[in-house]
Amino acid sequence: MKKIENNTLRLENVGEEVTLYGWIGKKRDLGGLFFLDLRDRSGIVQVVVKESLSNYQEVVSLKNESVIKVIGTVIERVSKNKKIETGDIEIDAKEVVILNEASDIPFELQNATALEDTRLKYRYLDLRRDEIKEKLMMRHKIVTSIRSYLNSLSFLEIETPILCLSTPEGARDYLVPSRVNKGKFYALPQSPQIFKQLLMIGGMERYYQIAKCFRDEDLRADRQPEFTQVDMEMSFVEEEDVMEIVEGLMKKVFYDVKGMDIKTPFLRMPYQEAMEKYGSDKPDLRFDMTLSNVTSLLKDCSFDAFQTVLKENGYLNAMVVKKKMNEFSRKKIEIYQDYIKTYGIPSLYFVKVEQELTGGISKFFSEEEKKALTDTLDLSEGDIVFFVAGRKKTAQTALGELRLKIAKDFNMIDQDAYKFLWVTDFPVFEYSEEEGRYMACHHPFTAPKDEDVEKLLTDKENAKAKAYDIVLNGYEVGGGSIRIHQGEVQKKMFSALGFSEEEAKEKFGFFLEAFQYGTPPHGGLAIGLERLVMILSNTTNIRDVIAFPKTASASDLMSDAPNKVDSKQLEELGIEIKRAIQELSD
Ligand code: AMO
Repeated sequence: MKKIENNTLRLENVGEEVTLYGWIGKKRDLGGLFFLDLRDRSGIVQVVVKESLSNYQEVVSLKNESVIKVIGTVIERVSKNKKIETGDIEIDAKEVVILNEASDIPFELQNATALEDTRLKYRYLDLRRDEIKEKLMMRHKIVTSIRSYLNSLSFLEIETPILCLSTPEGARDYLVPSRVNKGKFYALPQSPQIFKQLLMIGGMERYYQIAKCFRDEDLRADRQPEFTQVDMEMSFVEEEDVMEIVEGLMKKVFYDVKGMDIKTPFLRMPYQEAMEKYGSDKPDLRFDMTLSNVTSLLKDCSFDAFQTVLKENGYLNAMVVKKKMNEFSRKKIEIYQDYIKTYGIPSLYFVKVEQELTGGISKFFSEEEKKALTDTLDLSEGDIVFFVAGRKKTAQTALGELRLKIAKDFNMIDQDAYKFLWVTDFPVFEYSEEEGRYMACHHPFTAPKDEDVEKLLTDKENAKAKAYDIVLNGYEVGGGSIRIHQGEVQKKMFSALGFSEEEAKEKFGFFLEAFQYGTPPHGGLAIGLERLVMILSNTTNIRDVIAFPKTASASDLMSDAPNKVDSKQLEELGIEIKRAIQELSD
């Protein structure tokens, strides 16, 4: 058995005879004297192989990444290498056993220029790179810290099923056909939501799980079809209790992983304020720039484009970029005008602040409007102000995205900062243009604020929920809510979402029934583990923190999943693939 980590050997070990294992990294052949880096998970140590060794020629001709065992003595190096931790010593090899000879490696491991697709095809080799290895080690550290924290607070770690019932709402399900119940399907869980609530009804009081979740949705840099949640649920709690426990968890993780003492409680910001000031429900607070609602201030403005939008009950949104007027050439502004179009806003307008407001659309503003803008937006010479007009949410989101883009382009973001906040008071419903109806903003089990229960049916637009998201550096790292624990309120909710009593019964019958037999008030939250690891390990690519990730088209380049299956397998399941689709995938 391997007993020593290569990276642990130091000057005090000089004279010891050691047995080491690992992969061959860099090699240097000085003719009769051969140096190699022996790498294991912990790091590297230099081995000296002399011509007197019986299998010297074989060792010298080994390719990089071959696996060997080395028995030798730790000696002090003549020329020390300060770049590695074992740089004061080296191993004088007495015996080298070749355990596995490697072929030529398809890409240079320590050189990050290989295409990501190549790295994913040979992910097991990619894992040998420090960059990926360190992220997985950090992920392990984070999970260990989380487990230890939650265990210390009497949470029970309980597993919930992977083969579940398909339910409406949320993202699209991954379906699994049942062989024994032909024509019927399981769904993979989008989250353990229903089960964790049933665990509370089952009297478990405090639950957590490092849970695999599956969502068939469009992928982004921070989204995978298969991801992991740190899922938790508690009985007899209010919103503030859940937030306090999660703050304690973040404090512990940051201390264990980064040695940092982060300040709690975190800032709380209602959803409406987040949207108004930052154009996002996950504001990045690492830089100051904010947005302002100037709808009423400019309600009489003579600019036609604004008037058209105002007539349709629209929204005028402004953002000041302080002291950067001269850095926005006409060409640069055009780039941002194109950028904002991708968020459904046709035009981006601006004015510059010299001795007075000039350029752009300034000629449409009256003296009073200029003064009001200057006062309200606290303008001073050298600023540039951007305006967008449109439907409220579109105007907010678009300018919020521009805020992020400009901050990145002008290096305004403090890369060393960790800015947490809770976004609270989410609306219960969101109107879906696509579906033509109100949908649950979080999920259908989220409790409305006590004073808003009646609004579920009478004023959907303004009903607020006991829901909260934890945001870190512009990422939604977690979300949760206090749940509805009274059957009557749950029924109201389903009815508000447009489910008939029959439909609700068919889809959630067992769940609704469970509420009749003594349900404690309860609530919880789930943290997106990958997002937390991404932020703590300084990457913006979620694939970097998953051992075997999927590509943007949800496939695994290494194993080639998903693949076609035998017609016999399909027959057993009672499934037939349409001919057109079969031809397409051939
Ligand atoms: P929600 O859907 O907000 O809540 O998910 C919780 C957190 O999971 C992460 N996340 C993802 N991470 C990677 N890839 C994805 N496709 C993905 N989707 C979500 C995010 C998000 O904040 N059951 C509720 C939680 C609760 O109410 O307790 C839920 O799943 O970081």
